[in-house]
Amino acid sequence: MKIPSLLLNDGHYIPAIGLGTYQIRGGQGIDQILSAIQDGYRLLDTSTNYDSEGIVGEAIRRSGVPRAEFFVTTKLPGKYHHFNDTLDSIQESLCRMGLTYFDLYLIHWPLPKRGLYPEAWKAMVEAQKLGLIRSIGVSNFEPQHLNRIIKETGVVPAVNQIEVHPYWVQERMLQANQKLGIITEAWSPLGRGSAALNEQIIIDLAEKYQKSPAQIILRWHNQRSILPIPKSSSLIHQRQNLDIFDFKLTNDELLKINSLEKADGRIDGQDPNEYEEFN
Ligand SMILES: NC(=O)c1ccc[n+]([C@@H]2O[C@H](COP(=O)([O-])OP(=O)(O)OC[C@H]3O[C@@H](n4cnc5c(N)ncnc54)[C@H](OP(=O)(O)O)[C@@H]3O)[C@@H](O)[C@H]2O)c1
Repeated sequence: MKIPSLLLNDGHYIPAIGLGTYQIRGGQGIDQILSAIQDGYRLLDTSTNYDSEGIVGEAIRRSGVPRAEFFVTTKLPGKYHHFNDTLDSIQESLCRMGLTYFDLYLIHWPLPKRGLYPEAWKAMVEAQKLGLIRSIGVSNFEPQHLNRIIKETGVVPAVNQIEVHPYWVQERMLQANQKLGIITEAWSPLGRGSAALNEQIIIDLAEKYQKSPAQIILRWHNQRSILPIPKSSSLIHQRQNLDIFDFKLTNDELLKINSLEKADGRIDGQDPNEYEEFN
């Protein structure tokens, strides 16, 4: 299936949807990622903290698809925010995946209480100059974190990957990213398979458009100019999740989905200002 692309602020293109790999592991995981590649996924999202970098690299090799066709993303763990640790961690991840460069590398969480994220960002700017990374971005960054790294380096992230789903709509963050020319990626775009898939508003739209509830939610992201990275280990779901580009929700329908937002809608209550990453 042909997937549309979005233009990043550094001139590179990124597929408009990708595959999340959180909790995809082991030999079975390689097969699940391979099936996704065969169905057309090219953006693969992993992280050092998911313990899936190795199998993503192996699936890429086994697929026979040229490396240049992929858009591989991984993320920096919180324990490596010091400048030299960041550079080492990038190179360790490349070795683990058997790759010579990443298409996109993200700071996984800002960890503002430690306050080392500007140092990590400077190391990523350096790694980009060295050719280890094509595009550099962040994850779970709030406006004040974005402003700080931009002020200190003059370099604007290409992507900010944040939690977005119908219970956590993130209109304010979406606009903050857009103002800076940053593409918003949605993690847990389906609410991690939560009750959002069973909301009556979503089910009614699924019936109207002859699509599944997941496809309605993924199309909602796409029409908001958000790039979703749904995780699925099911062949049927993986295929379904790519098939979202042949229908269009109305503005009213987009707003109806927005209205599902909850005040405490975050899946695990992870506030980027407070969250201390596991490491
Ligand atoms: N940057 C960060 O801090 C951060 C945090 C969390 C996640 N992430 C990234 O975001 C990715 C996605 O988030 P996520 O894995 O938390 O949650 P998600 O993609 O919102 O949801 C995954 C769940 O939805 C189910 N699902 C997938 N497609 C479906 C379909 N068509 N119909 C019904 N159910 C479906 C999956 O089950 P099946 O496997 O059975 O299909 C799985 O249980 C992660 O894998 C990871 O790469 C990043």
